[in-house]
Amino acid sequence: MFFGGGQECAPLRNSALPLDSMNIEEKVRKTLAELGLGDAEAIAALFAEVRAAMAGERRELIERGARDEAERDAMAKALRDRWLARKNGLLAHLDENWLKKASPELKPAVGRQFNELRRAASTLEVAELARDIPLRSRAEARDESAPSLPAVDEPRPSVRPPLKDLTLPGYRRPLGSLHPITQVQREIEDIFLGLGFRIETGPEIETVYYNFDALNIPESHPSRDDWDTLYIDSQTVLRTHTSPVQIRAMQKYGAPLYIIIPGKCYRRDNPDSTHSPMFHQVEGLAIDADITFADLKGALDFFARKFFGQETRTSFHPSFFPFTEPSGEVAISCRFCRGEGCRVCKQSGWIEVMGCGMVHPEVLRHGGIDPERYTGWAFGLGVDRYAMMKYDVNDIQLFFQSDIRFLEQF
Ligand code: DAH
Repeated sequence: MFFGGGQECAPLRNSALPLDSMNIEEKVRKTLAELGLGDAEAIAALFAEVRAAMAGERRELIERGARDEAERDAMAKALRDRWLARKNGLLAHLDENWLKKASPELKPAVGRQFNELRRAASTLEVAELARDIPLRSRAEARDESAPSLPAVDEPRPSVRPPLKDLTLPGYRRPLGSLHPITQVQREIEDIFLGLGFRIETGPEIETVYYNFDALNIPESHPSRDDWDTLYIDSQTVLRTHTSPVQIRAMQKYGAPLYIIIPGKCYRRDNPDSTHSPMFHQVEGLAIDADITFADLKGALDFFARKFFGQETRTSFHPSFFPFTEPSGEVAISCRFCRGEGCRVCKQSGWIEVMGCGMVHPEVLRHGGIDPERYTGWAFGLGVDRYAMMKYDVNDIQLFFQSDIRFLEQF
């Protein structure tokens, strides 16, 4: 054992060996009387020596470190067993020879010392030892030129392996960051969470019923066309928007309901700088008694100012969606020309940022909510477009190419 005090513990032939030249293994195999120790002071000194040896061996393991977890655990177990093994551990011998065989006058003093030693020995339990023994770094372990360290059972080297050079720079693990789309999605979520909305999610593989029918989108609507939508089978699609989760949530929670629904959506679009067959939306839905279009305008104006800046103005235009009546589109004053007209806003001074409207009574009915008692407003926006606007990115494809040089800018 490399952490042994010196030689292997051969049985003692010469019982008159002077105390100083005996190692711990030899001493614990003798009684105190055989060791010639007759007073409390000498016994205290002997126990102090044992504690120091134990602490020294523990320290040695920690300074040494282990190549890997397996070696570390083996080292910890070997030291633990050397001291604490029930049958042949040093403390077992010590108990047998020093404590049990102590003279009646010395027994109380030996007992106290023994207890103290036992307490100190709890730091040799494997879990505690293993926690304290450091693993040598992987790079060091790979370095062939580093001195190879003997396994636990090999004899102790006469020269200690060099300790780690603390002046070397440490290893830097490159830190990742949240994807810009995720960052923008969370920013949007936070604004609505602050208004008392909750986050709801739903399946990306959706039934035709929830994706279209329940939302009042008729069979003849172009969005149902094979050329626009990715069908899995005739009744199942990759959802084309987050709106089907409106119906699922109404059925699940009933009214009143204040939710936003972030998630991936899919359409049969060829990728170009503004289109991707997979993209992200955040849907909003507020249902309560007496909800009016004024609530919709107030909430979305508040949101736009929070997200795009307090100076932002909003403008609401009539539009059409089968699941809202009336329907609208929200535009914000162009952030680049402040409404003067520029290339970004195509000289209009406005940029469209979402669709919205009052939830169609038929949609409420499909969700199991009585349109005579409750009304609601809803909106849907494209997160990818928001990220493009926010970070001034001119190609949506950049978000999905996983190019670190692009992503690490966020
Ligand atoms: N689902 C629509 C789309 O994908 C967006 C939308 C418009 C959602 C108006 C709404 C809404 O909830 O009220 O184009």
